[in-house]
Amino acid sequence: MNIFRTKNIDAMIASSRASGNLKKVLGPFDLVLMGIGAIIGTGIFVLTGTGAVTAGPALTISFIVAALACGCAAFSYAEFASTVPVTGSIYAYSYATLGEFVAWMIGWDLILEYGFATSAVSAGWSGYFQSLLRGFGLHLPTVLTAAPGALPGVHTWMDLPAMLIMLALTAMLSIGVKESTRVNNAMVVIKVAVVLLFIVVGVHHVQPANWHPFAPFGYTGIFSAAALVFFAFIGFDAVTSAAEEVARPERSLPIGIIGSLIVCTVLYVAVAAIMTGIVPYQRFLGVNDPIALALNYAKETWIAGFVDVGAILGMTTVILVMTYGQTRILYAMSRDGLLPRRLSTVHPKYGTPFLATWVVGILFGIVAGFVRLSTLAELINIGTLAAFSLISIAVIVLRKTRPELRRGFRCPGVPVVPALAVVACVTLMTYLQPLTWLAFGVWLAIGLVVYFAYARHHSLLNRQEPVSEPPALAVGGERR
Ligand code: ALA
Repeated sequence: MNIFRTKNIDAMIASSRASGNLKKVLGPFDLVLMGIGAIIGTGIFVLTGTGAVTAGPALTISFIVAALACGCAAFSYAEFASTVPVTGSIYAYSYATLGEFVAWMIGWDLILEYGFATSAVSAGWSGYFQSLLRGFGLHLPTVLTAAPGALPGVHTWMDLPAMLIMLALTAMLSIGVKESTRVNNAMVVIKVAVVLLFIVVGVHHVQPANWHPFAPFGYTGIFSAAALVFFAFIGFDAVTSAAEEVARPERSLPIGIIGSLIVCTVLYVAVAAIMTGIVPYQRFLGVNDPIALALNYAKETWIAGFVDVGAILGMTTVILVMTYGQTRILYAMSRDGLLPRRLSTVHPKYGTPFLATWVVGILFGIVAGFVRLSTLAELINIGTLAAFSLISIAVIVLRKTRPELRRGFRCPGVPVVPALAVVACVTLMTYLQPLTWLAFGVWLAIGLVVYFAYARHHSLLNRQEPVSEPPALAVGGERR
């Protein structure tokens, strides 16, 4: 049994083209919106507080560093997505290039990224939701407000709202919500509007004196914060999961991926500069709603209320798109035989991968209720940085092994740019805590065991059967 066997790339492309009953309706603008829907969320609305304490006003530079690492990897994503526009994202691409074992490990890694990201964003959602409730004089019992250990000196059992939002969105995705793309677009517009509102209002309250000293903790502070706020960029890769529903994928996908990344970078840098310009950075210590804090500090309280609502809607879209992406990856892995086949059964009435959706929702709903956000964020970052490094290596490999393939988009400067992506991602990984590395190692070790004990033997390639691509499911889980 060859663990480096690859899926036939030409068969994958042909099978994707043959699934002609798919409506190819998405254009570049939809994809940019979809990307922004998956990107802007907890990273900017919650983690910037910790980022500001770690880097000081130089948090703006941290965002640029994180964006550069993502940008270099995004070119590789775009090349793959335009060459092999099939479901399953980086998992599918690596199955065709680096072989089954690497694809499995990447798929396993993506489960960590997407799954834990939905839990982490649910925890961020819960913080803003509770702040909104407090505005109406409503208070949850303290023990139900946060994961154990999340609030220093406060005894808590679980984060109930985080768990409930996960389950509610799972229910929505599992029955296939027809309007989900439209709802998603509306929520994206609102959250971008809220971020712009913050920038426009906040800029008048900036006290440049707050920007001195600019980098109180030097390079270490800047890079440590970059490794944390990297989380704010995660999600642009979810755009690739719509590959089979895009009108001209070779043109639209790169625009979607890189466009959403550029828009978000500009917004993030502006937000970080204004936030640290309004409030002295030390005041963000232990703050979970830094943008609202800055507005309250500037006495713009009514706008702070708007931001609460925008943040809640914004984080809802992140959870939706990420949970969707997660089910699609499980689905693709299950169709290839690497995970139990029942995970790829499609519900006869709803046309959704019903079981896979609920497995994901319940599992990561529990994680959202019981694990701290900061622990989750670092774990997700290390998983994603590893995945970005691998996709960058895969692009170099594909150029060598299949130079003749038609590429709608070519990553510029191969092999230098992908190599820079690897260096940038690995550098950021070194700024994460030893405990994060340990947890990541344990996750990969479990993945290894599952591969050798189960996946390798059940792989369709192992049975010499032709591997078909999963039937297409629309955004929101509904089959078209
Ligand atoms: N980028 C996403 C967020 O910040 C995961 O919520």
